[in-house]
Amino acid sequence: MYTVAYFEKILNKKKQFTKEDIESILSRAVTIEKDIKNGTVKKVLADKVIACIFFEPSTRTRLSFETAAIRLGANIISVENALASSSSFKGETIEDTARMLSCYADAIVIRHHKSGSADIASSVATSSIINAGDGANQHPSQALLDVYTIKKEYGHLDNLSIAFVGDLKNSRPLHSLMPIFLFYPNNTFYFVSPKELAISEELRQELEDKNIKFIETQNMEEVLPKVDVLYMTRVQKERFDNIEDYEKVKDSFLLKGEHLDLLKMKSMILHPLPRVNEIDPVIDNDKRAYYFAQAQNGLYVRMALFLYIFGL
Ligand code: CP
Repeated sequence: MYTVAYFEKILNKKKQFTKEDIESILSRAVTIEKDIKNGTVKKVLADKVIACIFFEPSTRTRLSFETAAIRLGANIISVENALASSSSFKGETIEDTARMLSCYADAIVIRHHKSGSADIASSVATSSIINAGDGANQHPSQALLDVYTIKKEYGHLDNLSIAFVGDLKNSRPLHSLMPIFLFYPNNTFYFVSPKELAISEELRQELEDKNIKFIETQNMEEVLPKVDVLYMTRVQKERFDNIEDYEKVKDSFLLKGEHLDLLKMKSMILHPLPRVNEIDPVIDNDKRAYYFAQAQNGLYVRMALFLYIFGL
């Protein structure tokens, strides 16, 4: 069964998000986006401390979580490059790190290079744990901002054709997005990847068991005219055991200017970012390029998420 604890622990309870939880966060984010634009955000987290500890590099996730906390009035304690600059460098375990941060902070946002680390942290933490990406496993807040971006444009999350392109084996956004999409009926999925980076057998099996329409292919051009959402991903060099294997597949699927002619006029190009070269910058000014707006939406969604975990 391909299921996920989206946020490993919320208010000291292990939490698997329901469809209602997700819709509640998305609709809260709509209000927050308006409040930010109107300058009417209230500092309701003024009595809270949020810890952000990142064992892997990040631009968007860490800084948008921190901005979200600041916008809501919370105080931040932050460790970037935690492998080198926290006591992890001296051999402290993730469990002890989580225990210690629970002594100081009301919520802990954690990114780690090992799959399952947020879950381990939550097994001992007494504060809420938000998984900000654990290895190739999950990236739940990314998935929430992705569906927020799609819903903002289409108004719904069902009856869509969605293509995921690139490194689908290691894509933690994909792993967190699919359980959300499975709440919504009549979507068709296209998985475009080199064979080495295909979706997991576990996901394939679950989609078959649930009679979900999906097509696996290596022909991106054939898929482009069919989709409402084109979700590009980076081939993740850091997940490969050797550089030769990476070199073989790294440029498998590159979206170029000429591909725009194949896409529907009303479609969305998404990417969790960072991109390397899988989306040519000539595409950035096309109205179907949503990836920077998508990253901005992360702020509203992460603010909504903080309010959700504190029960506000
Ligand atoms: N999308 C995403 O997780 O980006 P960062 O690695 O910059 O946080």
